[in-house]
Amino acid sequence: MKTFYVTTPIYYANSLPHLGHLYTMIVADTIARHKRQQGIETFFLTGTDEHGINIERAAQRNGRTPKEQADYVVSYFKKMTSEFSLDTEHGGYDIFMRTSEPFHYQGVSELWRHIARAKTPKGNDAIYKGHYEGWFCAACAEYKTEDEYANPAKAGDPPTCLIHETLLDRISEDSYFFRLADYADALLDLYKSRPDFVQPESRKNEVRSFVAGGLQDLSVSRLRTSVSWGVPVPDDPEHTMYVWFEALTNYITAIGYGNEERERAVGFEKFWPALHLVGKDILRFHAVYWPAFLLAAGVEQPRAIVAHGMWLDPVGKKMSKTLGNTVELDVLNRYFPIDAIRYFCLREMVFGQDGRFGYEALIDRTNSDLASGLGNLSSRTLTMIARYCNGRVPSGFIPEDKLLLAKRAGLDTEETAISGFLEHARDQFLQHLEVFAFSKALETAWSVVARVDKMISDAKPWDLAKDENQKQTLNAVLYRAAETLRWLCVLLFPVMPKATTEIWNQLGLGNSADAPTPGRIDPAKLIWGELREDTTIGEVKPLFPRIDKAKTMKEINEQGQRIDAAGNSDQASSTADAQSPLASGSAGESTPTPSIVEQSASGGSGQHATEADAGAVGVTSFIDITDFTKVDLRVGEVLTAERIPKADKLLLLTVDIGEEKPRQILAGIAQFYSPEQLLGRKIAVVANLKPRKLRGHESQGMLLAASVGEEGKPVIATFTEDVPNGARLK
Ligand code: MSP
Repeated sequence: MKTFYVTTPIYYANSLPHLGHLYTMIVADTIARHKRQQGIETFFLTGTDEHGINIERAAQRNGRTPKEQADYVVSYFKKMTSEFSLDTEHGGYDIFMRTSEPFHYQGVSELWRHIARAKTPKGNDAIYKGHYEGWFCAACAEYKTEDEYANPAKAGDPPTCLIHETLLDRISEDSYFFRLADYADALLDLYKSRPDFVQPESRKNEVRSFVAGGLQDLSVSRLRTSVSWGVPVPDDPEHTMYVWFEALTNYITAIGYGNEERERAVGFEKFWPALHLVGKDILRFHAVYWPAFLLAAGVEQPRAIVAHGMWLDPVGKKMSKTLGNTVELDVLNRYFPIDAIRYFCLREMVFGQDGRFGYEALIDRTNSDLASGLGNLSSRTLTMIARYCNGRVPSGFIPEDKLLLAKRAGLDTEETAISGFLEHARDQFLQHLEVFAFSKALETAWSVVARVDKMISDAKPWDLAKDENQKQTLNAVLYRAAETLRWLCVLLFPVMPKATTEIWNQLGLGNSADAPTPGRIDPAKLIWGELREDTTIGEVKPLFPRIDKAKTMKEINEQGQRIDAAGNSDQASSTADAQSPLASGSAGESTPTPSIVEQSASGGSGQHATEADAGAVGVTSFIDITDFTKVDLRVGEVLTAERIPKADKLLLLTVDIGEEKPRQILAGIAQFYSPEQLLGRKIAVVANLKPRKLRGHESQGMLLAASVGEEGKPVIATFTEDVPNGARLK
């Protein structure tokens, strides 16, 4: 039997779940259900990442042991997965993996030992002992290089993480290193030989250029005296494994790597390799470090690593606990059917790209696509079958002598017109699903809804029912609508398991215990006409009641979920957070502050953004006006902009600031702005910054931008009115 293994990232056990976490689970769950429909034995993993300094600190803050801290967060994740039908009981995940499980310790130690014995492609030891000296962001659980942090305003202070805007930890200690640098060529070969290894294409290119730019060895342990909550390094318990080394390994320990009991219960041999679904912010760990570890250990590579975009709030800020603009799951759950949320997430977000979340959009989609769309098609079809056909599915056959009448009633008498359309739509739907184009797949399914709706409206069954001569036409219309609904149930089951099962039952297809359910039918094998005439339909019940937009928005707003159209989110907590000491103190309550895009700023892409409890950011000390006047800020116009080879984060600009010669300025914004977007743009420039060289180019100033979200996405400051080049900002 064919097998399939899909994973979500495992979530940090330091803060409570929100829409960003829910999203990947919905995607994974949809894929898993679809595979199961195809008769493929599927294993779906989700879980929590429970070790490391960040969890240790969260535990300390909350007066818990790290394990208690993890248990606490896990209880919320489990509550979420149950409420959103994502757990085993509801046909969702197969394992909720926790890295604090003893079998994980065992498996990770096994992997470490393998790597420790291995030689790199260049013949060196894959792991060696050295000394680490540098900066570490606890929230990212990542060591930071010079272009990944902002230097402090005051000499002697630690720098700040560009993503979290929190202070970095200085690390100076003995450490084991993984000789990542030796794996660059092997990784590039891997990306080349397996074009689908990293998806989508645009992300693969980012990963490839990161690797092509050269890799540094990776510190993979911390002294136990610095980080004690973690897996000890085999044969050297004074060291704790680096949390990412260990967390990534969960994907194999969960299914039996390094542990016979798990191997028997699940089967590494049986299920590996996995399809890893990840947010784009953690792609580097999955597409660079993880494959390198596996290469070193001689373990087969994952099937693919597929990165999705981020959920943003209505003004485009990444949703995160740190910014306080998350969508609380309790609120979602209270006001919206689970299937509407699942549908919305997959329909609204173009997979791979960022998507904005707004309650109004969710209400609109629920009302238009579900209440008036699928729900209405189902209830009008079934109600008419109940009324005009005594509650039994009629025959779709139109005898020869009635064909003309049927045509006159506006019906296409060729049944293949509709069955062919449906088959084509099904094929397209499946092709889209295969490449994670959920939004397109659903668009295709809704073209079917529209087509059948139109057939009904054109043929007007309510008029046909008044004419005994049109009985067969009426029957044919209703049969076609009901058969289409049956197909839609099967196609849409992975996305909306509850609603489709409900329609299935209302169609009378779930009557006997051994009747197949939509979750067990392979959509590719659907055959038109298999809906049996005379099937007794079930009780017709509305599926998606219309949501009163004004009332619901008012209630949501009153409950403190205030993400208004202007994107001003306030910090009112959900019930869960209100009870949670995690939300107290300095935990995650920062406001994005305007910042300067440093000449060397990385822009933060490919970095790791977490929901970690970052400290609050605010004004800590004031300057007087004379300090401010030291900064010469000028209006500039971008004359040229180009990328710099091998520096994927930098753009080289020439900017006219009213001087004789334009300035050359390097800006770390290449991952967020294309050169074309900048041409002719009026910007604000720090004109009296000491010139410095970056990647061989001199930068003669700096442009201003807001730093938005955890990723520190730069948004360039600009002018809405006409201003001359060189005008001073004061
Ligand atoms: N523990 C690591 C993952 C280890 S996997 C071996 C981690 N945890 S996390 O809790 O910070 O994030 C988990 C996932 O949630 C990431 O894939 C991240 O992209 C995703 N999301 C967090 N906020 C998000 C949005 N606003 N939108 C979409 N997904 C986001 O990283």
